[in-house]
Amino acid sequence: MRSLIDIVDLTVEEIDDLIATANDIIANPDKYAEKCHRKKLATLFFEPSTRTRLSFEAAMLELGGSVIGFSGASNSSASKGESVADTAKIVSCYADIIAMRHPKEGAPCVASQAASIPVINAGDGGHNHPTQTLADLLTISREMGRLDNLTIGLCGDLKYGRTVHSLIEAMSRYKGIQFVLISPEELKIPGFIRYNVFENQGIPYTEVSSLEEAMPDLDVLYMTRVQKERFSDLAEYERLKDLYILDGKKLNMAKPDTIVLHPLPRVNEITVDVDSDPRACYFFQALCGKHIRMALILFLLGIKRA
Ligand code: CP
Repeated sequence: MRSLIDIVDLTVEEIDDLIATANDIIANPDKYAEKCHRKKLATLFFEPSTRTRLSFEAAMLELGGSVIGFSGASNSSASKGESVADTAKIVSCYADIIAMRHPKEGAPCVASQAASIPVINAGDGGHNHPTQTLADLLTISREMGRLDNLTIGLCGDLKYGRTVHSLIEAMSRYKGIQFVLISPEELKIPGFIRYNVFENQGIPYTEVSSLEEAMPDLDVLYMTRVQKERFSDLAEYERLKDLYILDGKKLNMAKPDTIVLHPLPRVNEITVDVDSDPRACYFFQALCGKHIRMALILFLLGIKRA
């Protein structure tokens, strides 16, 4: 039985296969409409979510399965003190697969050790968000036609932005990838990525504080929200939150085929005038999230592609 806790739980071949399945689902949705008949997904969300929870639920429904779950710790027996491990054991009696989001780093990993069904990490604190990365990779591959030989700019909160950590871990395994890390000093990439990925694996990267300076070199610009919920000092959040705002004028400094991604939700990081630019791919990225999660559910349940 497989779970997905960290993006490196998947080989590059498995990621490429998930992307191929998602592309087939997009082209032939009817072939997949009953693939999960009588299967149940449990969405255990101890933290707020719009895209991840609803795209998982839509994914299971479009595969012909059903969904149970909760969308806040206060609606579950966690509020009475039940542990993550006990919750995972109990839900294993009711469902076939779990998607779990939790504010504590490592909680989905604990759940996967206690559960008797596959567990998917749907975001754990400021650590990882592997299914967002799968959505990002599907978007990049559909928009750029490749996942190698790209210069990827990551801008904003690289410290707490869990989507950035998983994306770096995934993309660094493809050939010819280089990263441009755009952040203030206070929100630089954490040590577990800096040392495990960049330095130990010799992946090329540069660090800058100016978005304008980085823009002309990028194939992919990945904007992020400053993660207010991870700050203990809200004055620090207020000081940092609007340092990077992508508007139409700044986007004009990019190449004509640069694509702009954002895991969303956005606050002020991208002005709405950018939405109509053909390079803005963040709403398409959210749609890709549903299709790649359909492919992932099939994979983890051991259901063969149509
Ligand atoms: N991208 C993402 O994880 O969005 P949600 O928090 O809405 O799930």
